[in-house]
Amino acid sequence: MPAFVLAHLSDPHLGPLPRPRIAELAGKRAIGYLNWWRKRGRIHSGAVLARIVADLKEQTYDHLAVTGDLVNISLPQEYAPALAWLESLGSARDVTLVPGNHDAYVWTAARYPQTHWSRYLYGDNGDSAETHEPEFPFLRRRGPLALIGLSSAVPTAPLMASGQLGAGQIARLADLLDRCARENLCRVVLIHHPPSSKRAHHLRRLVDGGAMRETLARHGAELVLHGHAHAHLVSYLDGPHRRVPVVGVPSASEMPPGEHDAAAYNLYRIEPEAGAWRCEVVSRGFARDGRGITELRRLVLKSD
Ligand SMILES: [Fe+2]
Repeated sequence: MPAFVLAHLSDPHLGPLPRPRIAELAGKRAIGYLNWWRKRGRIHSGAVLARIVADLKEQTYDHLAVTGDLVNISLPQEYAPALAWLESLGSARDVTLVPGNHDAYVWTAARYPQTHWSRYLYGDNGDSAETHEPEFPFLRRRGPLALIGLSSAVPTAPLMASGQLGAGQIARLADLLDRCARENLCRVVLIHHPPSSKRAHHLRRLVDGGAMRETLARHGAELVLHGHAHAHLVSYLDGPHRRVPVVGVPSASEMPPGEHDAAAYNLYRIEPEAGAWRCEVVSRGFARDGRGITELRRLVLKSD
């Protein structure tokens, strides 16, 4: 079986921010809008993102995962340009999306991702394309991979950036993980929020991360991919037989040197090896000096 290469980018935070109507700036959006002009609009660059995407397109890969935060304060006008950007990456067959907290920033926008980007968010059964009601988690089979998409995107109070899966989604995740294990698929879980985070990031955490970690410990997964932290992160969670690698990628638009990490993306080269899955991660992105995009690192994930 030839290796399957999965590309992963996240958190483009597409600009420029459209001019909102006064009524749209009530509550949390007002803070987010000020924050964009004070800080975020200078951190995230369309030119940087364009160079990242151009570099990605020069690589050979089989599928692309995008782990959320396409938009910023969930203004209705932000979604069509974001769809155009998604389409510029590839068709919904070749690109899989999960939403981030900025994609469902306020209660009125809670279902905007499903409404506007549904083709990129539905599973192989396809029923959600007509109903605009994607069910999370969704399942897409691509080569030897089972791509399992979760939504941790829930509207929260001002100054909060937490995420939540809910008991129903976690129960369905457990069933899917078991079913895909029986099919000997390489289970890749896509989620915006990391399943665990530092205590200092309490307001940005996955609220039911403990339940997700317990589910992974019991049912296993070959890889968990996330965004949200805007940083290169590799960690491991307990699994039933092997450890579960968890990999976070920086924002694809963060100007070098980067408040967190400068813009980057990952390529995961996945192939069967000795009854398990070997996964080599190649990170490509801007060096801190911002001169150009290079290979930043290459490592093989250690699950045993
Ligand atoms: Fe983000």
